[in-house]
Amino acid sequence: MHNILVTGGAGYIGSHTCVELINAGYNVIIVDNYINSQPEAIKRIEKITGKAIKSYNCDIRDYNALKNIFKENDIKAVIHFAGLKAVGESCKKPLDYYDNNIYGTIVLCNIMNEFGVKNLVFSSSATVYGENPVPYKESMKAGTITNPYGHTKHMIEQILRDLYNSDNSWSIALLRYFNPIGAHESGLIGENPIGIPNNIMPYISQVALGKLPKLTVFGDDYNTPDGTCIRDYIHVVDLAIGHIKAIEKILLNSGIYTYNLGTGNGYSVLELIKAFEKASNVKINYSIGPRRNGDLPICYADATKAKNELNWVAKYGIDKMCEDTWRWQKNNPNGYKS
Ligand code: NAD
Ligand code: WQD
Repeated sequence: MHNILVTGGAGYIGSHTCVELINAGYNVIIVDNYINSQPEAIKRIEKITGKAIKSYNCDIRDYNALKNIFKENDIKAVIHFAGLKAVGESCKKPLDYYDNNIYGTIVLCNIMNEFGVKNLVFSSSATVYGENPVPYKESMKAGTITNPYGHTKHMIEQILRDLYNSDNSWSIALLRYFNPIGAHESGLIGENPIGIPNNIMPYISQVALGKLPKLTVFGDDYNTPDGTCIRDYIHVVDLAIGHIKAIEKILLNSGIYTYNLGTGNGYSVLELIKAFEKASNVKINYSIGPRRNGDLPICYADATKAKNELNWVAKYGIDKMCEDTWRWQKNNPNGYKS
């Protein structure tokens, strides 16, 4: 049974991935400083899986503390989710983003190197494609990135490529996520944003719950069939399973691999609202507002590389994504605090 160290394992995608890792027979060790999550998430993972999880309250930038975790545990591979992710905040606090995301990754990789642990899966983002034509393919050059958060993802990809080029015994998967939504179908874990959500799905579900009065749709004058932006929403459990496939791949053959994790389908904001209304049986109060700075009209994946090389395809559609989000939100109106 391999030990997999999961940085940011108490977070939204990390918690779902821990469940799937345990289901697949791996032993999970979580490192999180809870800057955007709560230890309760780990209790919920234990409840779902029936397995006790070893976890450390540790900032990955704390070299000595992280080193001790590697000393104490025989780690086979690392899945690296820990980082800050709010695009708007990154424009206001760029140094926090460069420090946490980039410096944190460098500390982690240095320690991995010292311990000869050279298997790494990294959470990258479709944001690195910038303004490329859709569908986005892994072979495309990165596009123009308009915010510090996106720059950190692009730079970390480059750092990891340089690392692999310097030492081919590393084995690294760069996973470019599209728009993860949904929740585990138990309703026990899900997305738990602090304060007013930035992303659309938690915003819609909090409007449905009556916690927020109204959703503003950011623009309906885009060159799309209904005028609203199109995104490749992917169920977080599908995304989590993609990580299991990536771990299998890097443990089999060393190399550096880049994969899109998306469905290959796009839905508009209005289509997402409709699907949520159908799943929840609640009318969503919304109005059309101005465009949001930096939004691309259309973003979706070409998901064939992950299908061909990882034997991974997303199986859940938009209805299931909305049903599972609603179950999580309804059962946990205050997130992990309830
Ligand atoms: P999240 O905020 O829920 O999870 C990140 C976790 O990392 C949190 O539990 C947080 O407390 C922890 N963390 C942050 N900085 C840390 C540090 N220095 N040391 C230890 N722990 C730290 O976010 P998420 O949505 O689960 O995203 C996970 C990863 O995937 C992030 O790297 C994010 O940039 C990336 N990603 C997310 C999305 C998305 O839409 N959610 C899309 C593309 C990529
Ligand atoms: C989706 C759509 C908005 C809120 C972000 C990051 C990206 C990746 C995923 C990390 C857009 C519209 C939103 C609202 C709205 N994260 N919207 N009203 O911007 O596609 O992607 O998360 O890597 O890097 O940029 O996601 O959920 O914010 O927006 O109309 O109140 O919903 O305009 O079309 P986005 P989102």
